[in-house]
Amino acid sequence: MNNTPSALKNTDHLPKISWAKGSYLHDVDGKQYIDGSGGPAVYCIGHSNTEVNDAIKAQLDRIAHGYRYNFTSDALEELSDIIRTRCGGTLNHMVYVTGGSEAVESCLKLALQYHAARGEMSRRKFIARERSWHGNTLGALSVSGFLERKAAFVGSLLDVIRLSPTNDYRPIAGSTAETVGEVSAKELEDAILEAGAENIAAFIFEPVVGAAGGCVPAPAGYAKRVREICDRYGVLMISDEVMCGAGRTGTWRTLEKDGVEPDIMSIAKGLAAGYLPLGAAIYSDKVSAAFNHIPQTGHTFTGHTTCCAAGVAVQKIVTREKLVERVAANEQKLKSMLADAFHGVEAIGDIRGRGYFIAAELVANRQTKAPFPAELKLALNIRQQALENGLICYPVGGNVDGVNGDIVILAPPYNASDAELAEIVDKTAKSVKQVLARFNLG
Ligand SMILES: Cc1ncc(COP(=O)(O)O)c(C=O)c1O
Repeated sequence: MNNTPSALKNTDHLPKISWAKGSYLHDVDGKQYIDGSGGPAVYCIGHSNTEVNDAIKAQLDRIAHGYRYNFTSDALEELSDIIRTRCGGTLNHMVYVTGGSEAVESCLKLALQYHAARGEMSRRKFIARERSWHGNTLGALSVSGFLERKAAFVGSLLDVIRLSPTNDYRPIAGSTAETVGEVSAKELEDAILEAGAENIAAFIFEPVVGAAGGCVPAPAGYAKRVREICDRYGVLMISDEVMCGAGRTGTWRTLEKDGVEPDIMSIAKGLAAGYLPLGAAIYSDKVSAAFNHIPQTGHTFTGHTTCCAAGVAVQKIVTREKLVERVAANEQKLKSMLADAFHGVEAIGDIRGRGYFIAAELVANRQTKAPFPAELKLALNIRQQALENGLICYPVGGNVDGVNGDIVILAPPYNASDAELAEIVDKTAKSVKQVLARFNLG
């Protein structure tokens, strides 16, 4: 059976974007869409913000880009100060890049350089988890645990030690929702011991798993145990906050909420909110102290002046308008609104997440938590139905085992109004229900 509408098979039928303002986008045919997911959790202050656009134009009028080996700039220095203040603690160093994959790639290379500088050249291996997404460059793809997206590249990827996903809705064998954090942390320790701590460079994970799992927060206590284990064996802890960071989950750093500071951290999407491409690998004083030179990572456009100016303008708005605080305060309300809108829909197995990073998971059976058959392509159908209903949300397939499973992620702009949040939730529930009805599933 192939229920995939032809519009889902390629990008030929996508609407053509024309303009956007705040939480609304408009295509060239005049159709309006509300941005329920900030695209892929990017547009955190809405679209076409005049203050950000003016800052970008002003920077362009002075100079677009001062190459990093020739110049520093006000924009770069100001953004670095903002990030240091927002991170707190010892995360005082950064390499700027143009997106999440490059940020992760830099995190991995910083870890390798740290150990090389300390004379521990045997520490070359990375440990990562299944049901994780770290990006599309070869290194980032290697540490990712997303079968469907990796299949074509198998054989050319780094040999990464892979752990189970950590998810209290789907606890791994031998654990319960209450113990999964501890059992998963023990799995990390066992993997380090089995491979030999002297061979492990770093453990990388998403503190709230995004597309690969559907807004899965680390179980209580997990991140602290991971920190202890990493410290015990000299393994660096890398927090991939490309999707969940920069305020998306109600703290500026995601692991802030868990009371943990990683050694190295990636951020991207929300940093410049999609106005220009920008990401960063941020690292601690400890990591920086190991090499007494600029790290060997980064690219021609590292620290691109206008991208940094966009980041500064976005982050000033996020701070001034207390948007991270707004996200934290509204988390429960958003979850309750979604739960109410899905009341009585048997196929909704779980609603979870942190801050404005919330997912609904679809299941064929609430008791067994069995997913719907992957051939139904429910996630893709929901994406298409939502577009027809004038909603942008972020449905993804494969959260259960890399192929099966359907989730719908909501990641609204931090400054969406209460009425806009209500419209996003209504249209999400309507779109999911329409697709379930079309497949006679509810
Ligand atoms: C957690 C995480 N890391 C890395 C990436 C890669 O980022 P980009 O697509 O900007 O290269 C993503 C993208 O979705 C992500 O969600």
